[in-house]
Amino acid sequence: MSIGIIGSGAIGTAFARTLARAGIEATISNSRGPDSLKALVRELGPAVKAGTREEAARADIVFVAVNWTKLQAALAGLKWSGHIVIDANNPIEAPLFKPVDLKGRVSSEVVADLVPGARVVKAFNHLRAEVLAADPQSDGGHRVLFYSGDDNAAKAAVASLIEQIGFAGIDLGSLAVGGKLAQFPGGPLPNQNLIKVN
Ligand SMILES: NC(=O)c1ccc[n+]([C@@H]2O[C@H](COP(=O)([O-])OP(=O)(O)OC[C@H]3O[C@@H](n4cnc5c(N)ncnc54)[C@H](OP(=O)(O)O)[C@@H]3O)[C@@H](O)[C@H]2O)c1
Repeated sequence: MSIGIIGSGAIGTAFARTLARAGIEATISNSRGPDSLKALVRELGPAVKAGTREEAARADIVFVAVNWTKLQAALAGLKWSGHIVIDANNPIEAPLFKPVDLKGRVSSEVVADLVPGARVVKAFNHLRAEVLAADPQSDGGHRVLFYSGDDNAAKAAVASLIEQIGFAGIDLGSLAVGGKLAQFPGGPLPNQNLIKVN
């Protein structure tokens, strides 16, 4: 499956780094265009190339890691038809770190409204970027990544990707249930840096 990344900041780059380490190809994008990503893709090596946000959004799996208040603009005008969108976002941002009022909804349900026609899987949002970027094999096991979603085939594809890049995936169920457990702030799972030992 092809992979696109929208957002090349701390989390987008951490995800790209895990893909590059596993030799998995991807196209990474940001708001400033591919030229601004030359140094990053040179550093990451041949698996990851720079593209526009439209090019990234054409992939089968589109990883979105953008500041909460910029998500609408980052996703505007993109066409979704069965794409898997990985929502790595949290409804809070620097410098105030004031939680967004979601009116009782789970943040991924709000993100899902911005990508109509896509199948949203919440994942890669519960660890700090530097932990996500680090070697997932640690202390004799594999670092845990949680995922949740309402489409089982989309979740299976993300679970497979999580395994390919060396993490241990744990299915938390639907967006309403799992999304809430992994949500930052509010859920019990953010920042739990867990290792699954087989
Ligand atoms: N940092 C963490 O440790 C962490 C952990 C878990 C989850 N998260 C979540 O992950 C998301 C990203 O966080 P971050 O720390 O990676 O943020 P960041 O370092 O500030 O990077 C944000 C990225 O979003 C891009 N962006 C903004 N507007 C855009 C647009 N209109 N079109 C395309 N790209 C756009 C920016 O592009 P430019 O580079 O061109 O400005 C930048 O690459 C947030 O929702 C955050 O809550 C962060």
